[in-house]
Amino acid sequence: MSKTIIISNRLPVQLQISDGGLTATPSVGGLATGMKSVHSGGESLWIGWSGLTDEETPKALEADIDKALEKHGCAKVGLTEKDIEGFYFGFSNRTIWPLFHYFLEYSEFELEFWNIYKAVNQKFADAIIEKSEEGDTIWVHDYQLMLVPQMVREKRPNTSIGFFLHIPFPSYEIFRTLPWREELLGGLLGADLIGFHTYDYERHFLSSVRRLLGLEVSFNDVYLDHRTIKVDSFPMGIDYKKFKDAAVSNQKNTNEKRSDLQIKLDNHKASAPDTKLILSIDRLDYSKGIAKRINAYEYFLNKYPEYKEKVRLIILAVPSRSNVPQYQLLKKEIDELVGRINGELSTVNWTPIWYFYRSLPFENLIDLYTSSDIAWLTPLRDGMNLVAKEYIATRIDKTGVLILSEMAGSAYEMNEALLINPNNFEQQADTLKKAITMPREEQVARNMFLQNRLERYNVEVWANEFMNALNRKSEGENPNISQ
Ligand code: ADP
Ligand code: G6P
Repeated sequence: MSKTIIISNRLPVQLQISDGGLTATPSVGGLATGMKSVHSGGESLWIGWSGLTDEETPKALEADIDKALEKHGCAKVGLTEKDIEGFYFGFSNRTIWPLFHYFLEYSEFELEFWNIYKAVNQKFADAIIEKSEEGDTIWVHDYQLMLVPQMVREKRPNTSIGFFLHIPFPSYEIFRTLPWREELLGGLLGADLIGFHTYDYERHFLSSVRRLLGLEVSFNDVYLDHRTIKVDSFPMGIDYKKFKDAAVSNQKNTNEKRSDLQIKLDNHKASAPDTKLILSIDRLDYSKGIAKRINAYEYFLNKYPEYKEKVRLIILAVPSRSNVPQYQLLKKEIDELVGRINGELSTVNWTPIWYFYRSLPFENLIDLYTSSDIAWLTPLRDGMNLVAKEYIATRIDKTGVLILSEMAGSAYEMNEALLINPNNFEQQADTLKKAITMPREEQVARNMFLQNRLERYNVEVWANEFMNALNRKSEGENPNISQ
């Protein structure tokens, strides 16, 4: 029977070797958390990197690694330390990531990174060819693997290939600065269907295709040789039910079952019932605007000093890409900012910021979502931002206020949130005040709309719409292929 092959750099689980044995931890990030829900149906094979380099993998453990991944419906692509340096920490995260998030000044154009990126994309394409059969549907994900569609197409000209980009596609003016821009577009155009989170990213891509490759583009079709490539936007949803159910069971937890974090949050509420908890959760990434958010918080406390001791900002920052210099600098900047503000403003009864730099288990994430009065998410650029959607899904009594950056893809679908420009401190200070004082009925009215939309357009619907569009495309072109 034909199956769907999902390919991404990061698998839904990451393997580590500890005390000679293997442990698997869930991956953090929108791609992994979103696709995990799609994959758990059991009818797909997910190919990606295990989290261990070839050098870290003792021969004796190889069979165990394959078995551990198989349990999750996954198979690995082996990568060396040099691959990871040049492909992951290099071209993916020092060239493409900053460029596509409009941080042109952080983007490094290194030929060595590009060469390794090409070689590693070929490794992924080879793994697909090895592990798939004619008739399988191939779904490639994200900016780390943009050359893979064309590499697979060369070996399997009739295979149905989809590609989805989980980050923004930048405007032509930004994209054209990349030395290898034509090659990247050519790689993507190996797919039959190319998906983006928003209409804007889709238009940016088509504009680059037209202007850099001179190809004919009609509406959202690209004509290349004898093929037509469909380009469309599919805003990714979340596993709404999973978050809602988790929030319900979180509320039912009796004293013995509550996590330590929940106990701390409950105690906080009991001892300071008038204090509002403001939550932010992100990977520690410069695109998320964490440092600016902390500065904006200080601005707010200075503009509205009556809220000192009446609010608390919780920052959960998940360690991410820590070999990349910009991430190390950002970590230092945030540590210093939090230290300075807490040092200057704390009182005997109050710490303005609680800062956690770690990954937390799913249950604790739910503890934070359900206990916070406000979620404040201020990316400077973000392909989607699923945290915004997850926060709303867990608000079972429909209270809670979402303050969300207009620069996040999710802002396009979340008009009932309080949308802000993360560079505008004045606006954010006023919006925080509005959120703190928003009447309960208004919170409920706004969240009702948001929740209905999230429930309807959940991650399963998102994946089905993408796959249906891909299947329609393949059937239209080759009516003999049975899906
Ligand atoms: P990005 O993909 O850029 O990291 P998103 O907001 O789209 O941003 O996705 C982040 C995902 O990672 C969410 O699904 C969220 O639940 C998960 N996540 C974020 N922080 C943590 C954490 N501390 N522990 C576990 N999962 C987390
Ligand atoms: C974003 C990207 C994903 C990536 C995730 C986590 O969501 O779109 O491709 O997996 O961030 O980043 P990491 O570098 O840890 O895989």
